Amino acid sequence: MAASSANPSGESFREAIAAGYPAGPGTLLLGAAQREGTVHADLPVHLALSLLNRHGLVAGATGTGKTKTLQGVAEKLSAAGVPVFLADLKGDLSGLAAPGEASDKVVERARACGTTFVPTAYPVEFLSLTGRHGAPVRATVADFGPLLLAKALDLNDTQASVLALVFKYADDQGLPLLDLADLRAVLSWLAGDDPPDLSDYGGLARSTAGVLARRLTELEAQGAAGFFGEPAFDVKDLLRTAPDGRGVISILELADVQDRPRLFSTFLMWLLAELYEELPERGDQDKPRLVFFFDEAHFLFDDASKALEEQITHVVRLIRSKGIGIFFVTQTPKDVPADVLGQLGNRVQHALRAYTPDDAKKLKATVSTFPRTPFYDLEEALTTLGIGEAIVAVLGETGAPAPVVGCRMLPPASRMAPLDEAEFARALAASPLASRLAAPVDRESAREMLAVRLGKGGAPVPAPAAPAPAPGKSQPAPSTGGQVAAAAAAALGGLFRFATSREGQRLIRGVLGNPTRARSR
Ligand SMILES: Nc1ncnc2c1ncn2[C@@H]1O[C@H](COP(=O)(O)OP(=O)(O)OP(=O)(O)O)[C@@H](O)[C@H]1O
Ligand SMILES: [Mg+2]
Repeated sequence: MAASSANPSGESFREAIAAGYPAGPGTLLLGAAQREGTVHADLPVHLALSLLNRHGLVAGATGTGKTKTLQGVAEKLSAAGVPVFLADLKGDLSGLAAPGEASDKVVERARACGTTFVPTAYPVEFLSLTGRHGAPVRATVADFGPLLLAKALDLNDTQASVLALVFKYADDQGLPLLDLADLRAVLSWLAGDDPPDLSDYGGLARSTAGVLARRLTELEAQGAAGFFGEPAFDVKDLLRTAPDGRGVISILELADVQDRPRLFSTFLMWLLAELYEELPERGDQDKPRLVFFFDEAHFLFDDASKALEEQITHVVRLIRSKGIGIFFVTQTPKDVPADVLGQLGNRVQHALRAYTPDDAKKLKATVSTFPRTPFYDLEEALTTLGIGEAIVAVLGETGAPAPVVGCRMLPPASRMAPLDEAEFARALAASPLASRLAAPVDRESAREMLAVRLGKGGAPVPAPAAPAPAPGKSQPAPSTGGQVAAAAAAALGGLFRFATSREGQRLIRGVLGNPTRARSR
């Protein structure tokens, strides 16, 4: 069915698109408008940088160009001085660090979009949870907090409350929980043969402590031990610009933990919570402070409990005011919970397949989430888009939708294939951040302190003053009993009802961060 070339108000396609996706200094170029098989090189499609903190979704069937779209948008953001964070599950994105190859296809694609292909490498920092494929990203157990850790360990409410108790006890006793060994040491002491008096804390069932210990072992077996400890990652390192003013693209290489979605999804929530805490509030600005991309975002949600889903929804809503945009990249919008989807103001929908009745249903559902358009038959368009083509829909400044537009996407200017091993090794060797974070530091913490205390007569002596923080490092500090009690109470009963009933700051601190910590950085 041919769609008409004018909308009911008589506005032509050309006028509508030019008005909805205008060029300008505060925009990034996605590609050129296309309709009924024609690419309009003179009708560019721009996204407004100022609206990227309204978040976004890049969706489409496998192989349709989602990751290349992400790569292209990341490049444009970097060029505009905006730092970018990419969660890279398949190791697809390291090519951003090298110039692209000027193949005939790519040169022609750029030309068809009204531009010239200029191979360009971008400033990239590689990060890794295991430390194998980038600067190791670590957090202390205390920084991570009992509530998020409970999720990483897949604990039920009762078990989570015991974990909260262990944190509180360690906090009260001035026993810093830096790595998993510290947590294990405190736990085994509290559940051991000669435990301290825990009547003030409500007691601790040995069987539950046993479950916690087993879960810790499982988490360690997943390679998480290296993640907890010091030197801790400072999220401000994600906000850097290169000496030439371009935004640094931080790529978190997750290919080696791909089979452990719980580990990295909790980590990503921690990262967002940290950013939320660290960054001052700021209203809408001409460009975002940082844009996050979660490629293969279904991994975030596949296995997520209702509670984690609620948290993601809250973070997505709140973090916008800190100038951070979040883009989810996944096969179908159905992979993203409706409440999150409802907050994504920028949509790039690549082709969908409609082979089976179920596909057809999904297609209809996707179409129904787009604003009405007089210019496209969306059901047909979405099933006939070629690779690297998409239907784009954004919300304008006022929140009103801009007209839906078909778009032939620009090719990325960086390399579409990953770096080879030698290139990767060179990139890592050249990174001051990687060398700064490479060697773990094992300063005195709960495990060592307990060993000393228990060695002297088997019972804990009153807590000594907390050790001096390592220079420049964060120091989990004891905090007020009230805050900890709130956390424990939250863990004990209706954790997430508690969490969702409080306003933003409190929610993030209480649920995602650790209410027991004070910050020194
Ligand atoms: N904008 C583009 N410019 C040039 N080539 C592109 C573009 N988009 C996609 N391609 C081509 O299509 C291939 C597949 O694209 P991409 O890896 O982005 O797909 P995907 O949707 O992320 O797939 P998957 O779901 O398997 O991750 C690329 O390797 C590239 O050859
Ligand atoms: Mg992909």
